[in-house]
Amino acid sequence: MKQIAVVGVGYVGLVTAACFADLGNKVIALDIDERKIARLKQGRMPIYEPGLEELVRRNVHAGRLQFTTSYAEALEGTEFAFIAVGTPEGGDGEADLRYVQAAARSIAQAMTNPLIVINKSTVPVGTGDWVADIIREHQPQPMPFSVVSCPEFLREGSAISDFMHPHRVVLGSTDPEAAEKVAQLHLPLRAPIIVTDLRTAEMIKYASNAFLATKISFINEIANICEALGADVEEVAVGMGYDPRIGPLFLKAGLGYGGSCFPKDVKALAHMAEEKGRQPQLLHAVMDINADRRRIAVERLEEMLGDLQGKTVGLLGLAFKPNTDDMREAPAIDIAQMLSEKGAEVRAYDPIAMDNARDLLPQVTMCADPYALAKGSDALVVVTDWNEFKQLDLQQIRDLMRQPVIFDGRNIYDPAQMCALGFHYRGMGRGYKGPCAEEKPPAADETDAE
Ligand code: UDX
Repeated sequence: MKQIAVVGVGYVGLVTAACFADLGNKVIALDIDERKIARLKQGRMPIYEPGLEELVRRNVHAGRLQFTTSYAEALEGTEFAFIAVGTPEGGDGEADLRYVQAAARSIAQAMTNPLIVINKSTVPVGTGDWVADIIREHQPQPMPFSVVSCPEFLREGSAISDFMHPHRVVLGSTDPEAAEKVAQLHLPLRAPIIVTDLRTAEMIKYASNAFLATKISFINEIANICEALGADVEEVAVGMGYDPRIGPLFLKAGLGYGGSCFPKDVKALAHMAEEKGRQPQLLHAVMDINADRRRIAVERLEEMLGDLQGKTVGLLGLAFKPNTDDMREAPAIDIAQMLSEKGAEVRAYDPIAMDNARDLLPQVTMCADPYALAKGSDALVVVTDWNEFKQLDLQQIRDLMRQPVIFDGRNIYDPAQMCALGFHYRGMGRGYKGPCAEEKPPAADETDAE
């Protein structure tokens, strides 16, 4: 059993704290947000993450997990301190490191024994060295410490399983002894452990996320071309994915990536490159293609519905992906905005993100369920691929709608089946096939008259 402090109780920090506690360690999770800590002490989670509440409750009950706002309490007798604070996007694409800086300073001031400080937050290459400088400068008296980079690769919605079954653990440090100790902490996870220098570890995180974002933008570019040439991107992706050099994952075409990581990390990597005079051409293309997906969705809907002025459009899903209530960089935000600007009345339903979305999208009417959303809508747009949308009673949906128009931004439905059900349906990058192949969209004035 090791004693561990985790600074920051956001997605990464709270999952890291709860999982290390579950592995039998004594963990104190710290946050300067008193409200968050008070709520956690009452067993209330600051975020929605499947399984997290139960995991926290179990480990608090077993006495392995505690919460505090005091650095002195968190660091007393602690050997490891993880920094897992937010690194939001700064002004021109660079990561804003003020929380990392504050955490490093507070750790320096409060540490009373030798410490291994582990950076989990996604930070620009070189931050590990900078954190070491901050700690050195702010220690009241010199106390041995080491900085290790250990980037997280957790996906929201499956963060616990990603933590417990990682594909790899990356550790970066100039101190082999410290890296070895952090490696020991991860041994129960039985994953390959890569030990490298600080900057390379930091780069592995950016390169991994940028590559995944590139895969998504690549398949979205192919989707665009498929649409023009009459091919089906879903089948293209399956056909490509069997090649082990390509792989089937992250080839889902649609509205593109959102969330707290990909948009921010790709931008930050491009910014780091540019600061050093390099031209990250591919990264810019990845970002441009991603931004275009949202615009293309609205254009397609316009092609299907005609003028959007006065039309009622229902968004199926708001969160940036299923199984989360996270609205950060969610395509729904841009799509709702563009639709409103074009004069449409926008409604939405999401199983759990509506509370978070209300403030961001004050013009959008939230509906109680997909059927209430469909009632009287001129069109539905699938924005998030929640499983529950795959099982809807589509006949009922069709009968409730003013016009049976569905634009499927995540390709969750089968075009032939939707056509057989009498929908005017389009997905992204899917060449029209089957009995509806020749069907023309209803003209705007025709539908207005209905
Ligand atoms: C991601 C990384 O996967 C994780 O390793 C990293 O540490 C944090 O960022 P997350 O943002 O939770 O995790 O979501 P992820 O499941 O990776 O999806 C990101 C976005 O890409 C979502 O908006 C999703 O809808 C989109 N996506 C994903 C696609 O559009 N197509 C795909 O094929 C896969």
